[in-house]
Amino acid sequence: MTVNTIGVMGAGMMGSEIALVLALAGKSVLLSDRDRELLDKAAAKLDGILDKGIARGLYSEDDKARAQDNLRSTLDLQDFAPCDMVIEAVFEDEAVKAGVYRALDEVLAPECLVASNTSSISITVLASYLSERRRPLFIGTHFFSPVSRMKLVEVIPGLDTADETVATVTAVCEEAGKTPVPIKDVVGFAVNRLIHIFWIEAMRLVEEGVATPEDIDTACKLGMGLPVGPFRLMDAVTNNLTLDVQEILHEAYGPRFMPRPLLKQMVKAGYNGRSAGKGWYSYDER
Ligand SMILES: NC(=O)c1ccc[n+]([C@@H]2O[C@H](COP(=O)([O-])OP(=O)(O)OC[C@H]3O[C@@H](n4cnc5c(N)ncnc54)[C@H](O)[C@@H]3O)[C@@H](O)[C@H]2O)c1
Repeated sequence: MTVNTIGVMGAGMMGSEIALVLALAGKSVLLSDRDRELLDKAAAKLDGILDKGIARGLYSEDDKARAQDNLRSTLDLQDFAPCDMVIEAVFEDEAVKAGVYRALDEVLAPECLVASNTSSISITVLASYLSERRRPLFIGTHFFSPVSRMKLVEVIPGLDTADETVATVTAVCEEAGKTPVPIKDVVGFAVNRLIHIFWIEAMRLVEEGVATPEDIDTACKLGMGLPVGPFRLMDAVTNNLTLDVQEILHEAYGPRFMPRPLLKQMVKAGYNGRSAGKGWYSYDER
């Protein structure tokens, strides 16, 4: 099956950049969210990414023109009717995603593929919110942030996913310049299970007064060769999402993923990271 027209539901941190990489790859992309203001904000963010990319030699003016030509936004779900594939990137909340799938199922063509960018919720469970006939067409495509730069996509078939869906979606990821890696449908998939164990231990070190977040970030960059340390990365991902994911992992796997009290405290007090202006670091530039 050839995928030319792709709908992206949710124009936040992930959905907006997923739309961008697909538009750059020549797909016709429709981006949707709950209101016009969010879509305008996403468009402005993507223009910024393209302009910065041009300044750094990552994109050309032609790339920018192609992305802008190929990317449209809409608030009308009916506009998704001609899509060959829809990628869902709404909040990491099973009930919210379920509502989106039920609405999409009504509108999409019977052969339209549906993918979720969930970080942690089981693909087999999410598939159950779609009609039975669409479940073979449903799959997880877990992109990483920032999508415009990170190459990995975890491709996660659920119990009902058809082999042809895996092959088609893998090809779409490759066309978007990504490296898809097949992963079994377990809670948290592979990378999040690894990274959250690491982040939880990093937070324990801070709680025990072993080192500051900044010094741990420096140590991880210089001693482990990481491009960015755990605290800077949590601030980018947002601490509220980190907590949500750890709660899901904790429920699935028990104490080894128990969220640290410090993280809960910070999220409750609004220290959500870079986009909130404060997190493990403070961000005056906001
Ligand atoms: N932030 C990350 O680093 C990251 C990484 C990988 C995967 N994810 C996953 O990607 C998904 C999106 O995360 P995000 O960080 O982009 O979140 P976000 O909060 O930045 O964006 C979510 C967007 O979904 C929209 N939305 C919510 N309900 C909707 C609805 N019913 N209909 C249409 N739009 C709706 C919101 O208005 C918002 O703009 C989540 O499942 C998350 O777990 C996030």
